[in-house]
Amino acid sequence: MTQDSTVHSVLWMRVLSGIQPSGQLHLGNYFSMMRQMIHYQDREELFCFVASYHALTTVFEKEKLEEGIRNAVLDFLALGMDPDRSTFWVQSDVPEVAELSWLLSTSITVPQLELGHSYKDKIAQGISPSGGLFFYPILMAADILAFGGEKVPVGKDQKQHLEFTRDIAGRFNNRYGEVFVIPEPEIGKEVAVVPGVDGRKMSKSYGNAIYFFAPEKKLRKTVMGIVTDSTGVDEAKDPENSVLYQIYCLFLNEEERQELAQRFRTPGTGYGHFKQELFERIMETFADARKKREEMAADPGFLKDVMRKGSEKARAIASQYLDRAREAVGLKYL
Ligand code: ADP
Ligand code: TRP
Repeated sequence: MTQDSTVHSVLWMRVLSGIQPSGQLHLGNYFSMMRQMIHYQDREELFCFVASYHALTTVFEKEKLEEGIRNAVLDFLALGMDPDRSTFWVQSDVPEVAELSWLLSTSITVPQLELGHSYKDKIAQGISPSGGLFFYPILMAADILAFGGEKVPVGKDQKQHLEFTRDIAGRFNNRYGEVFVIPEPEIGKEVAVVPGVDGRKMSKSYGNAIYFFAPEKKLRKTVMGIVTDSTGVDEAKDPENSVLYQIYCLFLNEEERQELAQRFRTPGTGYGHFKQELFERIMETFADARKKREEMAADPGFLKDVMRKGSEKARAIASQYLDRAREAVGLKYL
């Protein structure tokens, strides 16, 4: 149970996660994180934010960042995030998080941060990593600890960051007394890594992502571009080794998956046909969200209002944790 019991129900688990506003949403983001997050608001106490401070480590153009933040907010709202039932905000509208990250920074060592995957990746690519990139895991810890997040749904690539957060919270609590809740990551097994159209991990940086809010024509073209082998229409196809089958399965239940595998193994249907079916399935799945997104995009006043209320709710909690942390380390000296 989290410690801010004035605002936290004992019966509900506090679920928290964030997403960077650094590009359009793709199926990997949706199936690994967004879908679960949005379902959580029916069962648990949901905290969700757009990681705008984190995006500063990669987005250096003002307009691009502003547009990215707006888009991410629209994406969440269109997919069903309900700001009345949940706490939904933009990270940089809650500056308490930035201050907390400084207080947490002495609870992790430089050698430990040097083991960070994203930091090491940059070095391996010959890029000189910025201080912000090095500090990234500490800010992420503050994101979670400032709200008493108990369960954190993320993709597999964020597992190490969650371990850093747990270490930071543990060390801080040991040194100064119990202030923070130690969070648990939640990594969906089935969709741990969603493949992209070329079979590698779907990622905006690989140019292999399926963006489900893209204009219809563009979306269809991407789906039609999923890699397949050269098996002909009249030959049996192997579902086990097919990227197309794997992506299609994201939209199916177990029974439908078996049926589809059977259709793959039965000669007579070409890959093109399966791709067209998948495209229609994607359009159907996101039809309501696409419509809602368009309507909301046309009403900036509404968005502004939603984000203002969201940050007020979020700050009310973050300030409690920050206050306790300030007191624990000795900054409330009067
Ligand atoms: P990208 O790799 O496209 O830059 P992000 O790093 O913005 O994606 O990821 C946002 C969230 O979506 C994270 O929780 C991440 O783990 C998850 N995620 C991104 N791509 C995938 C994928 N292909 N499969 C599963 N989860 C993913
Ligand atoms: N680092 C995460 C990503 O790239 C985004 C993120 C920032 C986050 N702070 C977080 C996720 C806190 C969960 C909890 O996907």
